[in-house]
Amino acid sequence: MRRRLHTCLTFVALIALATLAILPVACGESETVAAPSGEQSSDIRETRSGEQIFAMTCASCHGSEGEGADNWMVRGEDGRLPPPPLNGDGHTWHHSDGVLYGIVSDGGLGLGFGSNMPAFKDQLTGDQIIAVLEYVKTLWEGKELDGIALRQYQRDSSADDPYPATD
Ligand code: HEC
Repeated sequence: MRRRLHTCLTFVALIALATLAILPVACGESETVAAPSGEQSSDIRETRSGEQIFAMTCASCHGSEGEGADNWMVRGEDGRLPPPPLNGDGHTWHHSDGVLYGIVSDGGLGLGFGSNMPAFKDQLTGDQIIAVLEYVKTLWEGKELDGIALRQYQRDSSADDPYPATD
């Protein structure tokens, strides 16, 4: 019995030591990983990565993984819809590239419906809008409806309505 207790205590001590040894490494690593992206993202106009643009300008409303608001189908008191999921769980993939570009560039109001989706044309360049939309599409990877991959469906529907040309 005593011996078992001893073994047990040694084990606990070993785990504690191991944790102490790992902790600084883990913290150190996360710091070095975070630093460069922090530098890059200081000015949105310099940012070309769709993923970073998403984190900086879209995630606050649509969720860090594009999951949208919980109640996204229920209109708020202002009669407007909350931010929907962009990750393939909603219907974003029903829209062609041309329509998606218009929604982000001109916002919901620009497209003529009462909406809390802001216009980004003064904040993002055309290339950045395309980059962030291409990132959004990666969130649909592996998702399908009735055996059709969402990305394929959306690609087909964009054939006649591509992104506009950007300078
Ligand atoms: C202030 C909150 C807010 C921010 C920030 C925001 N959105 Fe939205 N977005 C909305 C809301 C609300 C809607 C729903 C509009 C409606 O149907 O009235 C929406 C709708 C959309 C739609 C249409 C989705 C669909 O399924 O039809 C797309 C695409 C979209 N947003 C992309 C983006 C992107 C990309 C960004 C970042 C560049 C962004 N949004 C930033 C609030 C926001």
